Amino acid sequence: MSTFEVKIPDLGGHDNVPVIEVLVSEGEAVEAEQPLIVLESDKATMEVPAPKAGTVGKLTVKVGDNVSAGSVICTLELTPATATEKPAPSAEKPAAPSAPPAAAPEKPAAAQAAAATAAAAAAATQTLDVRIPDIGGHDNVPVIEILVADGDVVAQDQPLLVMESDKATMEMPAPAAGTVQGFALKVGSTVSQGDLVCQLIKAASAPAPAATAPTAPTAAESATTLPGPSATRSVLESDTAPQAPITTARPETPPYAGPATRQFARKLGVDLVQVSGSGARGRIVIEDVQAFVKQRLQQPAAAIANAPMLGGGIPPIPAVDFSAFGTVDEKPLARIRKLSAAHLSRAWLNIPHVTQTDDADITELEAFRQDHNRALGKDGNKLTLLAFMVKAVASALKAYPEFNSSLSADGGSLLMKQYCNIGFAADTPNGLVVPVVRDVWRKGLRDIAADCAQLAQKARDGKLSADDMRGGCFSISSLGGIGGGYFTPIVNAPEVGILGVSKAVMKPVWDGQAFVPRLMCPLSLSYDHRVIDGAYAARFMVHLGELLADLRRLLL
Ligand code: COA
Repeated sequence: MSTFEVKIPDLGGHDNVPVIEVLVSEGEAVEAEQPLIVLESDKATMEVPAPKAGTVGKLTVKVGDNVSAGSVICTLELTPATATEKPAPSAEKPAAPSAPPAAAPEKPAAAQAAAATAAAAAAATQTLDVRIPDIGGHDNVPVIEILVADGDVVAQDQPLLVMESDKATMEMPAPAAGTVQGFALKVGSTVSQGDLVCQLIKAASAPAPAATAPTAPTAAESATTLPGPSATRSVLESDTAPQAPITTARPETPPYAGPATRQFARKLGVDLVQVSGSGARGRIVIEDVQAFVKQRLQQPAAAIANAPMLGGGIPPIPAVDFSAFGTVDEKPLARIRKLSAAHLSRAWLNIPHVTQTDDADITELEAFRQDHNRALGKDGNKLTLLAFMVKAVASALKAYPEFNSSLSADGGSLLMKQYCNIGFAADTPNGLVVPVVRDVWRKGLRDIAADCAQLAQKARDGKLSADDMRGGCFSISSLGGIGGGYFTPIVNAPEVGILGVSKAVMKPVWDGQAFVPRLMCPLSLSYDHRVIDGAYAARFMVHLGELLADLRRLLL
């Protein structure tokens, strides 16, 4: 097994650059080009990758150490395949002070001088042509991110775009502060040295001297930022010389992340602007991106389970500081209200609702009910309008059994219920509950009325058990005792229909010869359109109206 020392490569003449992250530990197997440590100068953040695959031996740097070219990072025991395949020729060793990266000799000093001159001239006119600098001799490098738009005011060194060759990801910073104009590139454009990116209208108060208008990198910069294909990539996307054209984001220009992290985020489609950095000075590291994705994946489930006002994939309503507008008292929600809010949100988001409205003529029904209740005297169990509604709905469910069904969990079939339990919404001081009257098909009006009264009382007293609220097939929400017209009740999933009952009022109704006063009860039938067709629902509604209009039909 071959072991060698991994050293800090040429840092463009910089010495004593702080180590801000150590990304591996002793004994860890690493891939070739896997980042080992992160350095940060006052100008750039640089990852130093493993030159070959192997196992990290002794680590000789730690966070906070200052390193220079030639400082030993660690020993690396090469994996046998790598060691045999490539016996670590000196040109491919990580750069040591005596052996700079192979790309170093590619320094285009002439280009640097020419660019500096051009930049100086541009500065004098206060309009600067921003061009792609020397990118290590590469041509047609794809632009993968555009970070500014025409009209944006940018600070000097603020990244304008990101390029990605097969070797590295590079940000191109603004060579001076100013306003972006004529941005000519888009994602997918390919660029080469000298291509025009945009113009910068420089702020008059911040004229940029020629030396700070780096439309082209120094030789050292281009060598270290994008080593040639034969070079060991000792520094990824680094920009180690002052005023260099290609840097990673600086702490004040979010998002602040290294190239490996950016690449990783891009693969997952993560917008780094949304990620908080846990690294030194808020730097975003790969783990932050992983945590962000994990949190986002968990969010829909958590939102449904714990945050009733949110639905999976639905953008949350932004928080508002109401105290900015006046005094606000905070009142915690009762448990029932939280639970029903979650349940209602789920139903509202999952079920395609349709609400059908109609008026039922309950003139005869009400007359019968009043007569019956009068005859009962004080002690008997009164027949409530709700009991009639429950009885009539149960009968309609028999005639239209799809309203008495639920979708199977996989959505592939209908589960047709051969029993009939009907829930009714009850308003309580703590919120809405839906107790269930059981076996309605087997019960007469009196029993149904008694059950409703007993369950409504339990609801008001907060004494309903979980069993009292389970097993419903269809629900009724009666607001008739309060007033108001039609409304759109939310289907009580996994049921497929709900009937809203509003306050009956006397209306003139045409009987074919004349308008006659009739007691008309507004009904609002909401249903799950995945299960119920509109025509089926309309027939159900008409049938229900006929039952309520003529109680004798309930006997049929
Ligand atoms: N039209 C006209 N009058 C009506 C009526 C209607 N549709 N429904 C009820 N009434 C009358 C009743 O006849 C009763 O008068 P009475 O004492 O002279 O007979 C009065 O209004 C009070 O009725 P109510 O308190 O509603 O009793 P109920 O037995 O009809 O209903 C509950 C019981 C539990 C449904 C009811 O108390 C309740 O909580 N309703 C609110 C449901 C709710 O919040 N729904 C919304 C869900 S989002």
